[in-house]
Amino acid sequence: MISQEGFEPDVLGFLCNWCSYAGADLAGVSRFQYPPNVRIIRVMCSARVDPTIVLEAFIRGLDGVMVLGCHLGDCHYMTGNYYTEKRMKTTKNVLKSTGLSPDRLLIDWVSAAEGEHFAALVKDFTERIRKLGSLGNETHLELHQLKKRLVAAKEALAQEKLRWLVGREMELVDSANVFEEKVSQKEFDQLMLQIIEKEFSKRRILQSMQGEALSIREIAQRVGASPREVLRNVVSLEHEGLVLFVGVEGNSPKYRRAGG
Ligand code: FES
Repeated sequence: MISQEGFEPDVLGFLCNWCSYAGADLAGVSRFQYPPNVRIIRVMCSARVDPTIVLEAFIRGLDGVMVLGCHLGDCHYMTGNYYTEKRMKTTKNVLKSTGLSPDRLLIDWVSAAEGEHFAALVKDFTERIRKLGSLGNETHLELHQLKKRLVAAKEALAQEKLRWLVGREMELVDSANVFEEKVSQKEFDQLMLQIIEKEFSKRRILQSMQGEALSIREIAQRVGASPREVLRNVVSLEHEGLVLFVGVEGNSPKYRRAGG
């Protein structure tokens, strides 16, 4: 990681209306000092912050994103922030797949009475991002390459399978099904990581195809994955109707993006 002297982080903060935004307001009227690097967007509940919005913030070049809500148990919509916690955990894992540090995303809780805590969080997070450097400083990628990966990650997060699982995590892990079976947190996390990797890899394959027909070997080179993994994911994309088989080149099958 390259140290970047004089770098000033650009941070975006999503604050829930009922607690964190009021906490930020209190920090202001109480004159608690905090860095001016954060731009704030007020949302009704932290659960309104969809993971794809967080990815979009990074695609647009923000260096760090904070999602702040009411303390667990205090959400004005009862369980909103429990969902936020699960969704942001998945978002951090998706960020990791792109090569970005998950530390660029902060999820925390601030009540309306915690102006000083809000100021301290902004100060600590800004300092953390300053140390990490500008977006992508921790990767070996050019900014345009990183952004392509972020777009693929955003598309992966928009997939129904992933969204369904994220939305059901509490139910699947905390409550037993009709057969009195429960999924352990460890099992769930492993499954989630596998699905994230698979969906991310599939979106990168689609990205790599543009309008051309490519052999599995060519795709593997473009996305930096093994031909075996690419073939598995291309077959899955073919079942979904997103790629079409167009023939065989040498002994490698060729595919193109459907509709492209
Ligand atoms: S209203 Fe604050 S987290 Fe839901």
